[in-house]
Amino acid sequence: MSPHYSVPDRVSAGSSNICPTMADYHRVHAESMAHPDAFWLGITKELVEWETPPTIGLEGGYAGIADEQFTWYEDGRLNATISCLDRHLATRADKTAILWEGDEPGDVRRISYSQLHADVCRFSNALENLGVGSGDRVIIYMGMVPEAAIAMLACARIGAIHSVVFGGFSADSLANRVLDSGSRCIITMDEGLRAGKAIPLKATTDEAVAMVEDELAGQSGAGVETVVVLKRTGGQIDWVEGRDIWWSDACEGQLDSHQAHIVSAEHPLFILYTSGSTGTPKGQVHSHGGYITYTAFTHRTVFDLREDDVFACVADVGWITGHSYIVYGPLANGATTFMFESTPLYPDAGRYWDMVERHKFTIFYTAPTAIRALAAQGDEFVAKYDRSSLRVLGTVGEPINPEAWEWYWHTVGEGRCTIVDTWWQTETGGICISPIAPATPVVGGSATLPLPGIQPRLFSAEGEMLEGEAEGLLCIEHPWPGQTRTIWDDHPRYVETYFSTIDGYYFTGDGCRRDENGYYWITGRVDDVINVSGHRMGTAEFEAVLVEHEAIAEAGVVGFPHDIKGQGVHAFLILAAPSKTGTAGDEDGQGDGTSGYSDELGQALNQLCRRRIGAHARIDRFCVIPGLPKTRSGKVMRRILRKVAEGDPGNLGDISTLAEPAVVEAIVNAEVHG
Ligand code: PRX
Repeated sequence: MSPHYSVPDRVSAGSSNICPTMADYHRVHAESMAHPDAFWLGITKELVEWETPPTIGLEGGYAGIADEQFTWYEDGRLNATISCLDRHLATRADKTAILWEGDEPGDVRRISYSQLHADVCRFSNALENLGVGSGDRVIIYMGMVPEAAIAMLACARIGAIHSVVFGGFSADSLANRVLDSGSRCIITMDEGLRAGKAIPLKATTDEAVAMVEDELAGQSGAGVETVVVLKRTGGQIDWVEGRDIWWSDACEGQLDSHQAHIVSAEHPLFILYTSGSTGTPKGQVHSHGGYITYTAFTHRTVFDLREDDVFACVADVGWITGHSYIVYGPLANGATTFMFESTPLYPDAGRYWDMVERHKFTIFYTAPTAIRALAAQGDEFVAKYDRSSLRVLGTVGEPINPEAWEWYWHTVGEGRCTIVDTWWQTETGGICISPIAPATPVVGGSATLPLPGIQPRLFSAEGEMLEGEAEGLLCIEHPWPGQTRTIWDDHPRYVETYFSTIDGYYFTGDGCRRDENGYYWITGRVDDVINVSGHRMGTAEFEAVLVEHEAIAEAGVVGFPHDIKGQGVHAFLILAAPSKTGTAGDEDGQGDGTSGYSDELGQALNQLCRRRIGAHARIDRFCVIPGLPKTRSGKVMRRILRKVAEGDPGNLGDISTLAEPAVVEAIVNAEVHG
């Protein structure tokens, strides 16, 4: 096991963190457990601007409550953007709110709090002028430009519910999200820019809107009415008169002041889609009051936030990390938050550290996959830049392996910075298990201890609660304000996904070990979700796409350990009978069902995944097998596929319940392509 590390200056000066020492942490955590309502009411009144402050904490819950319905701050009224913008005008008007660096190094914009307020107000007026109102859903499909944050905040300000779709998603995925959320307005841009490459966001939007129109054909009053287009590159795009409007034209003549629409605490702030264990993404719903409280609280606490910090989270606003720790948490805390349009390797592997030197980042937050990719490029890219401004380094999205952690600690942080390995999920809204900088002594690979308000519990597969040192299913006992309240338009799925595994507890989908010090070590997903470079994808999503191809009869997709990406994607394919396709099947005529793969087929399948899901959905390895390992009742024993993909076929466990045990040998011996 790695040694415990702690930084010398263990008591933080000038921070807004309520747990500057471990003694404070233990006291605050105990208080939050003993009196959760009083704790969270106190926190929200301190950190959030309410028009009508709440008197109620939690109502409902998930222990013994039908339908697992719960609310936080039910009688409070607010608008989350007042906490992020208006209240800072008195004290931080000229402070940089958003520091942006574009794709090309040195292409920088600094937007002050007063300017951000004005820009958000202007765009709020523009949206209202276009007929968008409270409760309407709006899709945001943009690259990493400040206007993406402005669009999110403007939606929130008028009470509309934004749903940001990551710019890498395909037209199919975008169309599904438009349809599921019932959005009539999409905010996009002509093209995104990443590593010198233009990303055709408007063209993809056009394609998605056409799919939505096909799907809704004949239904009057439905469909996308407005597409707002921000000009980024000036590239050639198609234009639909009457539907499309340039961002600048929409803002023309609009006032730069706007009275925020006050909503109840539980009014949805946004929907963000996540992959799950079935093919359809789940629209996670976060609310104004609880979410803004939780992101503000966790942001200042975990990162030990100080007034003059330059906080750099290099995630994308298309994912929850961007929502919580680029936009809402930092702005609620009046911080300077960094937005980055490019990639860690453009123009070379020194990009992050070059920006640390130029912008004097004090807190830097990234994902293990980026750390591994950069470590593989050698230390010289790091060493040539001055990183003395850094104080806290964060990681999120997947388990971090000890080697990557050590590299982050020694090479990037020079043994001087606290590393916060932050465990959380789209569903949790903000960080739940993490060191608190600089108080918590850290150990490479462990997310350490629960934040105040969070009570993790471990359960065996049989549903028995495990005490002390143990490994099991990670659940959380008591609701906290940042938790999603439902899945958009599908509350039964919310109940089934999170509350049916262990009665009365929120089940995270992760496995976890608790060590002798009470530290938590996340071991990865235990459900059918794979985490590739921090992108969460459902195996069922891949399988549904693969069987669309005429050569594929059935498919089983699992993850396997990958040096850089954390997990790679391994697809087991059962080919359709040659008579059906004329192309697939056993070339050798032996009938063992394990040949018939060609590189062309692999490429075609990956193209299909790209088209149906997005650019980030790529299968690394293929195997052709004669049949999936199914039980007599027809259930696929994924454990067997997983073990084979992980290179551990000697350890398959009990296979006696398989309908055809002989298939296992063929799976173990199948040739791996890719
Ligand atoms: O498996 C866990 C992993 O990422 C999942 C959540 O993915 P998503 O909703 O996309 O949110 C990612 C950003 C918060 C979790 O179920 N995960 C997240 N953080 C960590 C992690 N696994 C290990 N250690 C972490 N620090």
